[in-house]
Amino acid sequence: MTHSRISGFYNMTLDERRTQLADALSSPSGPPLTAEDLSAWTTGGLSPEAADHMIENVIGLHSLPLGIALNFEVNGRDVLVPMAIEEPSVVAGASFMAKLARAGGGFTATTTDPLMIGQMQVINVANLHEAKLKLYEHKAELLSEADTIDPVLKKFGGGARDLEVRIIDADASPIGGFLVVHLIYDVRDAMGANAVNTACEKLAPRVEAITGGKVHLRILSNLADRRIARARCTIPLKELAFDDFSGESVRDGIIAAYAFAAADPYRAATHNKGIMNGVDAVVIATGNDWRAIEAGAHAYAARSGKYTSLSTWNKDADGNLVGTLEMPMAVGIVGGATKVHPAAQAAVKLMGVKTANELAEIIVSVGLAQNMAALRALATEGIQRGHMSLHARQVAIAAGATGELIEKVAAQMVMEKTVRIDKAEELLKEYTGTQGNK
Ligand code: MEV
Repeated sequence: MTHSRISGFYNMTLDERRTQLADALSSPSGPPLTAEDLSAWTTGGLSPEAADHMIENVIGLHSLPLGIALNFEVNGRDVLVPMAIEEPSVVAGASFMAKLARAGGGFTATTTDPLMIGQMQVINVANLHEAKLKLYEHKAELLSEADTIDPVLKKFGGGARDLEVRIIDADASPIGGFLVVHLIYDVRDAMGANAVNTACEKLAPRVEAITGGKVHLRILSNLADRRIARARCTIPLKELAFDDFSGESVRDGIIAAYAFAAADPYRAATHNKGIMNGVDAVVIATGNDWRAIEAGAHAYAARSGKYTSLSTWNKDADGNLVGTLEMPMAVGIVGGATKVHPAAQAAVKLMGVKTANELAEIIVSVGLAQNMAALRALATEGIQRGHMSLHARQVAIAAGATGELIEKVAAQMVMEKTVRIDKAEELLKEYTGTQGNK
């Protein structure tokens, strides 16, 4: 059983942290981390030669820090969460909120079946209503044809599930009315873009024959609203209190912050960006397509016609804080970069996920934790204090602090609310009697 609470992780060296991960991951059901997995994180994982096979005109690699969010318990299971992100405070914020959520039973997450939508745009149709009904009359035949297109997915229980036909009216289109056919495809543990695009391309001639029209675009929709992940957590009131802030004031502050995002698209964009700080970091660490996730998230946030918050925050009958997050989550654990990127493979292994849905459940939980981290800070001491302590460490190092002095100098600067190189040098001199490096 993996334990996601590793005490002192923050203060360990990089090597010590990797060793701790290998030790923590002693799941009897999953494969242990190997030396190759650990070295994938040391080197970044991808060789330039492998990269050269992934995209065009490769000249090298581009790295990001990879951190581990601690304390996560998702559906009763402890999980260590890899996060690839350049922004300070994100990993610490997620870890801290996961600790508070743990006290309330952790995160409860669910997913729908992994259903993706493939779209076919059918133009030049003489009678849209007649063509729509004809497509429904041939639905069983179209689905059984689509079902044979990907034998691998079929073998693992995926395949074509449904067909929906929509009419785009002439007054909504500069080219006159047309049909949109949605092919609903269960992609199991794949992200599914290739399977769905292939199925749409293969089905198009049959759709043309039935409708008498021409199939123009054949491509998946990133508004993956048939592939939803949901997470919920309850934070006991007493866990919310800190410094001079009572549990009630923190809870009500978070709820009022959520109300702002629910009502105002300008705030909702930033609120959802905070959610995506957590979501994208895990999506990237696992080699998934974060642009697809971003597109799906924001389109889903606007599904009512007005862009709003993806999460909700309220209190339960006992006065505890309850958060929810619901969003499309088209991630895979087979195929694509996830399969060829050694660091992504190690990330999937670290989380011990066996299905894409399990990965989606972890990611949506991290999104909810990240959202709470931002709202808690914004509703109390402001966002800069958290940012400042990491920034202060960097300033202390730049002034020449090493070892324990880094933390000591940084903490003093934060306390005095003066995070500057000259202040760090002054403190260093005071603590050591020397001038530091600069
Ligand atoms: C910064 O990366 C994210 C926040 O702006 C999110 C939010 O405002 O809720 C802090």
